[in-house]
Formats: sequence, C-alpha cells, structure tokens
Amino acid sequence: MSAQPNRLEPATVPTMYFVGVTTTRSSIMKIFPKWSEILGLGARLVGYDAEPHAPAETYRAIVQHIKHDPLSIGALVTTHKIDLLTAARDLLDYLDPYAELCGEVSSISKRDGRLEGHAKDPITSGLAWEAFVEPGYWGRTNAEVLCLGAGGSAVAISVYVAGLQDQADRPRRFIAVNRSQPRLDALKAVQDKLKTDIEFEYILNEDPRKNDQYMAALPPGSMVINATGMGKDRPGSPITDAGLFPQNGMAWELNYRGELDFLHQAERQARTRNLKIEDGWTYFVHGWSQVVAQVFHLDLTPELFKELDRAAASIRA
Ligand SMILES: NC(=O)c1ccc[n+]([C@@H]2O[C@H](COP(=O)([O-])OP(=O)(O)OC[C@H]3O[C@@H](n4cnc5c(N)ncnc54)[C@H](OP(=O)(O)O)[C@@H]3O)[C@@H](O)[C@H]2O)c1
Repeated sequence: MSAQPNRLEPATVPTMYFVGVTTTRSSIMKIFPKWSEILGLGARLVGYDAEPHAPAETYRAIVQHIKHDPLSIGALVTTHKIDLLTAARDLLDYLDPYAELCGEVSSISKRDGRLEGHAKDPITSGLAWEAFVEPGYWGRTNAEVLCLGAGGSAVAISVYVAGLQDQADRPRRFIAVNRSQPRLDALKAVQDKLKTDIEFEYILNEDPRKNDQYMAALPPGSMVINATGMGKDRPGSPITDAGLFPQNGMAWELNYRGELDFLHQAERQARTRNLKIEDGWTYFVHGWSQVVAQVFHLDLTPELFKELDRAAASIRA
C-alpha cells in the first residue's frame, strides 16, 4: 500500500502523507494499512522525507501538492512542524488556535475546499503525559521538568502543562534547554501569551556535560524529557553516560524507535535511581490517531481509539 517517499505524483486513491525524517522506518507504515481497513478508508500513506531545517521549497512543494491534488487529502507532520508552517503559512486557508499559538502544524487536512492546519500536539502530548503521570503528582512532590530541546514538541508539552486546571497537576518549574536561541525565544513568546504560574527558565546550551549539571540540580521526582530528536533524527544523547537522573524521577524519551541512547541511559539507572521510564509509543499512537481522525473527518471515540491502539500494539509486538 505504501509508495516510495518524496514522489509527489497525482494520487489515484485517497492519499495521506507523512512528512518526517526517516518515514519508511516508522511503524505507521505497517499500522496505517490496518487502520485503513478497520476504518474502511481505502486509503494509502506515503512518506515525505526531509532533513531537519530543510529549505523552504521542500516544505512548500508538499503543501502545494496536497492543496492542488484532489486525492491527496492531508498529512501528518513530525519534526518539521515549525519549519513547515513558517515556510508555507500563506498556502493554508485556516489555522486552529493551537497552530496560531504555537506557530506549528502537525496536521494538514481539507474541508469544504479549504486547506487547514492544526497543531494536535498540545492535545496528543497531553494524552501521552496523562498515561504515565498520576493526577496531583506535582503538588505531592514539588518536582520540576527539565525539557532538553525546545522545538515543536517541547512547545506543545509546555502549552499542555500550562493549561492544566488543577495546580497540583502543574509542575512548579519547567526548564527548557535548546542549542539555538530562536527556539527558546519562540517558546518564551508562547508562554508569555499564556500567563501561566509555572516558572519557566530558558537555557541556551548544547553541551551534554552541562545538561548533566542541570539534571543533577533537579529536586527528587523530577521529569527529564528528551525532546531533541537525538537518538533518532540525530545520533547521540543530550546527556552523557555519567549524567544522573533525579532520584524517584521520570525519564520521557519522545521517540520509540532509533538508537534511543537517552532511553537506554535511563534504563541503566532504572533500579538505582528508581525511575519511571516512558518512550514515545503512546504519544505516537495518540498523535497518529488524532491526525487520521482530522484528515478523514472521523469521530475518534474512546472505543475507536482502543481498537486502533490494539491494532497498533499487535503490529509493534
Ligand atoms: N512519539 C511521537 O509520536 C513523537 C511526537 C512528537 C515528536 N516526536 C519526536 O520528538 C523529537 C522532537 O520533535 P520536535 O517536533 O520537537 O522536533 P524539532 O522541532 O526539530 O525540535 C528539536 C529541538 O531540539 C533542539 N536540539 C537538538 N539537539 C540539541 C541538543 N543537543 N541540545 C539542545 N537542543 C537540541 C533543536 O534545536 P535547533 O533548533 O537548534 O535545531 C530543536 O529546537 C523528534 O525526534 C520527533 O520525532 C515523537
């Protein structure tokens, strides 16, 4: 069912694109045909690979194609969520409030002749977070979040936590570290608009030894997130092997495939530091099911989500 990545030919069946970095290696290539069958879509998924921070023309080409080809009906965007929107904003006829706020799109779809962009990650990262963080956790522990990487996912997670109603569900402090300043500025601009009581700190750094130090300074129970793409999109980890995770803390690797160096570093300390470790699988299933529902205009009920989740899990196994 899947075609070669990056071939933008007129589609002959309803076609959804997957804009990423190494799309053919994603489990979704096997899961999507099964979901298409369950949902009766008769559709196919085609990958569109680009290096992180690709030229604007690369992003404009795929958006133009979806806009003008009748059977090319939408896309899920990963890694390039910010850069794609920056390059192709004028081609989209509608942006949802999260896309406007975060300056990113993870979903491109069509409705009544309009090309629409949605940022689903503030919702889907939140669903993934709720699957492993207990209600009231932050109020009980006074722990903090250290988010390594301040790109699209980091912005989305920060928007989700800032929007949590119960103070006990919000971490007291959220430290974002990024190797370049513009992403930190963009994250700050989003949070300034939200006026949250979470104390945000923005650190410019790409030295893993310094990240070890930020991690060492966290209170027990804190969460460390790898939102850099390192260990999948790029080799390595944002911390060194000598870095110590917070005692009784949490390690969240946003990816579920690749070398996953950060995840393995956490696993080696799971017992000694009593860590709760989460990979990106749950985030992946929520992310894809929400965007598929948007692109194909489906009502994603909890029952339907469970069915899709079971189908995805059977393929992962
Ligand atoms: N499981 C899932 O479904 C799921 C969902 C969302 C995301 N993800 C994964 O999560 C990763 C991040 O996604 P994203 O959309 O946030 O990507 P992104 O927008 O490219 O963000 C990555 C950020 O990390 C920064 N960075 C890279 N190396 C760094 C380092 N050593 N130290 C500090 N900062 C560093 C980058 O800085 P520069 O701006 O300087 O490049 C960039 O701002 C990707 O690998 C993606 O596949 C998985």
